[in-house]
Amino acid sequence: MADVVILPQSELVTLAAEYIGSLVHEKPELVLGVATGSTPLQLYQQLARSGADFSRASAFALDEYVGLPESHPESYTRVIDTQVTRQLGFQPERVHVPSGNHATLATAGPEFEAKIRAAGGIDVQILGIGTNGHVGFNEPGSSFASRTRVQVLAEQTRIDNSRFFDSLESVPRHCVTQGIGTILEARHLLLLAFGKQKAAAVRAALEGPVSSLVPASAIQLHPRVSVLLDEDAASELAMAEYYRYAWQNKFGGQVLG
Ligand code: PGA
Repeated sequence: MADVVILPQSELVTLAAEYIGSLVHEKPELVLGVATGSTPLQLYQQLARSGADFSRASAFALDEYVGLPESHPESYTRVIDTQVTRQLGFQPERVHVPSGNHATLATAGPEFEAKIRAAGGIDVQILGIGTNGHVGFNEPGSSFASRTRVQVLAEQTRIDNSRFFDSLESVPRHCVTQGIGTILEARHLLLLAFGKQKAAAVRAALEGPVSSLVPASAIQLHPRVSVLLDEDAASELAMAEYYRYAWQNKFGGQVLG
């Protein structure tokens, strides 16, 4: 069962930043899976403030929109460049985002997978969760065996992400995303969720049946998962009291992973 940690957001961010900081200290060539969206932004800021050294580490993004120029402020290539590469001091040649370029879509997935393999696999994958239970951009119905590929974005995802764009119409309809099979191969999954709007998806992912209708429920199949939730995101969990008790009594002390 996943470690579920329920704390105020600022404490979760500190916990996650200390954990990742300690990992990169122990293993300077850490391979970090990075998420976009609002959820991990404070974590990246806190890691930057901590002075953790990512100069020898690599990073792999989860996904990218299809058809946005890389210079578009909402292309994940651009977001990762600002929030991860520059802010944390990665070497740009060791930061990888799937290509959402129309001209190379057929090969984007296999090429990205080959890069992950060449790096030795992902040590820790940071994940958010969509209000519809997606993980990466794997929308409800995605195969748990899926690999990095083109996906059609769910209407709910386009609505949720329209806050970053001028209008709903300007949100792309397609993406390239790591598959659920790809994500499950990371050695540790670190899923963060904040806010009431995530509560139903969090409950379905952690306590519902494992189902492709809730792609994030695939984390139940992974042996090493930490789920960091604020009170609002945890508010619909049936087992919240047990999770708190288990965290307080965690064997070997309170260390993620
Ligand atoms: P958010 O997105 O962090 O912006 O809420 C998470 C997701 O859609 O996976």
